[in-house]
Amino acid sequence: MTYQWVDCGRDVVSRRYDRIAKFIPLFDWLFFVPWDLRRKAVGKMRLSRGDSVLEIGCGPGAFALLACQAGARKVYAIDSEEIVHFARELAAANGFGDRMQFIESDSRKTDLPERVNVIVSDIRGSLPFFGHAIAAIEDARQRFLAPGGRLIPQLDTLKVVVIEAGDFYSKLVSPWLHAASDLNLSPSLPLLLNGSYSGHFNNDQLISEPQTWTVLDYSASAKSSAALA
Ligand SMILES: C[S@@+](CC[C@H](N)C(=O)[O-])C[C@H]1O[C@@H](n2cnc3c(N)ncnc32)[C@H](O)[C@@H]1O
Repeated sequence: MTYQWVDCGRDVVSRRYDRIAKFIPLFDWLFFVPWDLRRKAVGKMRLSRGDSVLEIGCGPGAFALLACQAGARKVYAIDSEEIVHFARELAAANGFGDRMQFIESDSRKTDLPERVNVIVSDIRGSLPFFGHAIAAIEDARQRFLAPGGRLIPQLDTLKVVVIEAGDFYSKLVSPWLHAASDLNLSPSLPLLLNGSYSGHFNNDQLISEPQTWTVLDYSASAKSSAALA
């Protein structure tokens, strides 16, 4: 077989890239979270005959697919992004199309025809406090979970630790300290330094023992435990 280089031109390539760019992190996520871990989470659903499942923020629909494979009677999969249509194709390719229903919407703005036995969600970023994850899970628990139903995850344990991260700190503050030499931008520092940021740090940057900050229990009202934290 011979391959021929097709020069599509910059505009064509850039249009194609723009179309798929927003989904790239989701596909990364699909392969980044090991399938064994996903199957373990689905095992914790303890699905019985007749159970229904809701996945909030299904992305390409991996948990939903595995729940269907594990025997769920019905699986609802919601995502606010168009990726949900790819999830539908994936379900059809695996013969689960008739047992799965895909909804493109924010979960807080949609309804389901029934309450479900299990709600699975992987919608937080680095921290559950980012975005609206806690509010969305709380809303789903109240409106969609059947009595005695299960939430995956049920708990999030947040740990805190003091770190030494000079480079991270400099990158954060230097634009404000040095960008405009004729202006004093230092009043912005308290605001900047009291924000939340994500980063990757090594064990040797930890300068205290990790401590549990709070445990969010989604089966109670995580909203209220978050407010207490
Ligand atoms: C990190 S991805 C996870 C994708 C998928 N669950 C997986 O494990 O591969 C989070 C997805 O949740 C969606 N999302 C977050 N909050 C949502 C909400 N309240 N309703 C619908 N979709 C939501 C985002 O659009 C995004 O596609």
